[in-house]
Amino acid sequence: MGPVSQGAAHLFTSRKRRRHLLDLSGERALITGGGHGLGRAIAKGLAARGAHVLVVSRRQAALDETVRQIHDSGGRADAFAVDLTDIAAVRQMAEEIGRQHGGVDIVVLAAGGGRFLSIEETSEEEAANIMSSRYLSAFYVIRSLIGPMLKQDRGRIVIIGSSFAWLHSFNVAYKAAAHALHGLAQALETDLYDTNIQVMYVEPPPIWPLTTFFVHNPGTAQRLPAFYWRFTWTPEQLVAYILRGLERRSAYVSHPLMRLLNPLYPVVSRPLLWYSRRRFPALEDGGPLSGRRRRPIARTSADGRDFADDLPASPHQI
Ligand SMILES: NC(=O)c1ccc[n+]([C@@H]2O[C@H](COP(=O)([O-])OP(=O)(O)OC[C@H]3O[C@@H](n4cnc5c(N)ncnc54)[C@H](OP(=O)(O)O)[C@@H]3O)[C@@H](O)[C@H]2O)c1
Repeated sequence: MGPVSQGAAHLFTSRKRRRHLLDLSGERALITGGGHGLGRAIAKGLAARGAHVLVVSRRQAALDETVRQIHDSGGRADAFAVDLTDIAAVRQMAEEIGRQHGGVDIVVLAAGGGRFLSIEETSEEEAANIMSSRYLSAFYVIRSLIGPMLKQDRGRIVIIGSSFAWLHSFNVAYKAAAHALHGLAQALETDLYDTNIQVMYVEPPPIWPLTTFFVHNPGTAQRLPAFYWRFTWTPEQLVAYILRGLERRSAYVSHPLMRLLNPLYPVVSRPLLWYSRRRFPALEDGGPLSGRRRRPIARTSADGRDFADDLPASPHQI
């Protein structure tokens, strides 16, 4: 089918039917952070569309569980246990993937995390860890795989950021890492403009039911602004939006309301801060807009307070 008839077929295919067209059979998809949470959900979603997924994170047992779940549902998956903040280990992984699988067609960067901490709570080491597990790991992986992608002039790079990049909050390192990822996506999009490599930046709101992110980064759920919990996605929604973005070759996927609010951020942030201080004076101690339960919260998790009090007994293990 030529490009014109393909376009016509696309126009006359209903939206509902189009949702089922994305076929990733024969594609090799590497997903960082594939041992838990969003990475695992995305790996399962891509495998269900026929991709052979390669999941990467540090803990072998978690990776094995992802691989098992994919095999059980008839998909293809392999695991690589790698610390993505280690440049040499990432290079070695890329060589290994080249030898075993001949390269990759899709790269999804969902590894890393970070607690929501204010400036005096964030040690220099923790800031470095957050930046390297989120931004540098993404950079290293893309850098190690981009050569073959450019050679075949085909591929997709999906960067999972966070809508928290834009919200008024005190999480100095996590927020900065999210901005770094956003910058990386924008720069790559420009850099790869005249290639057939799609760059897609995904900016999820908080995911509900809670993922393992909130176990790996204790205290974080309690520090999200109250109104933020009104704009959640389920893991299934996130995967569906990513698949739709791949199908449409989108550059940016986010919650529609966040998309609307983001450009207004410089204008609304100060009035919002003023309003929150007037409306919730008791929260002063917890930082701007924090405390989804509208009561003072501990500003540090090192004081023995069990943040798990507020969480469901068992977070959603996806
Ligand atoms: N969950 C949400 O509500 C949400 C919303 C918006 C954005 N996000 C962003 O999406 C990302 C993924 O979220 P999630 O819910 O999937 O978090 P998660 O459950 O904590 O998963 C993070 C994954 O990254 C891996 N990882 C961490 N450091 C690594 C390293 N140095 N090398 C290799 N792998 C590493 C972890 O496995 P190992 O520890 O075994 O290495 C884990 O598999 C987070 O960074 C978060 O900022 C999450």
